[in-house]
Amino acid sequence: MSIVITGNPGVGKHTITEEIAKRMKLSIIDINEIAKNSGLFEKNGDTNEIDVEKLKDILKQKISEKNIIVGHLAPYVLRENQIKVMIVLRRSPYDLISVYKNREYSDNKIRENVGSEILGIIAHDAIYRFEDKVFQVNVSEKTILETTESVMDIISKKIGNEEVDWLELVGKNNDLGKFFVD
Ligand SMILES: Nc1ncnc2c1ncn2[C@@H]1O[C@H](COP(=O)(O)OP(=O)(O)OP(=O)(O)O)[C@@H](O)[C@H]1O
Ligand SMILES: [Mg+2]
Repeated sequence: MSIVITGNPGVGKHTITEEIAKRMKLSIIDINEIAKNSGLFEKNGDTNEIDVEKLKDILKQKISEKNIIVGHLAPYVLRENQIKVMIVLRRSPYDLISVYKNREYSDNKIRENVGSEILGIIAHDAIYRFEDKVFQVNVSEKTILETTESVMDIISKKIGNEEVDWLELVGKNNDLGKFFVD
């Protein structure tokens, strides 16, 4: 059973996965890389579509005990018995916008990904499927080191879940229009 790091693009999955892999001497299974190397990505304009069923099969063969798995698709391509713990990194939509602008994402792609983070879609879907194996960590206002420590606590002691609700924050700031209306 593997440790899994997931969350929207730009929340810091790979940064944190590399830190944890180093500390725990685990090898990294990168879901996107596997999908890409297996020719499962189909470019569709701005977005990539993936054959999820094929990806599930390929992953089944690659997963072993000493792995840490990373990818935003994790909640959709893994099975319960493959997972020790699934950590969803959450990042403020206000911070994510600048990450995406730096990456030169299109306005559309920014809106889609920020919207997904505000609604907490990945966290919701992960909890729906994997229930108490899922923990959230709010990386905003944490350094990379602090985030790594929080994730280590979750892995070793199963403590430190953070309830994250960006929708409430965005509503309070009167910014719903900014994120959800053209
Ligand atoms: N805990 C953190 N606090 C602040 N910045 C962070 C943190 N973790 C990562 N970052 C920074 O955020 C940016 C995005 O991180 P990273 O590339 O690891 O995200 P990702 O989730 O792997 O993205 P993708 O899904 O697109 O691969 C990087 O510039 C990284 O240095
Ligand atoms: Mg990455």
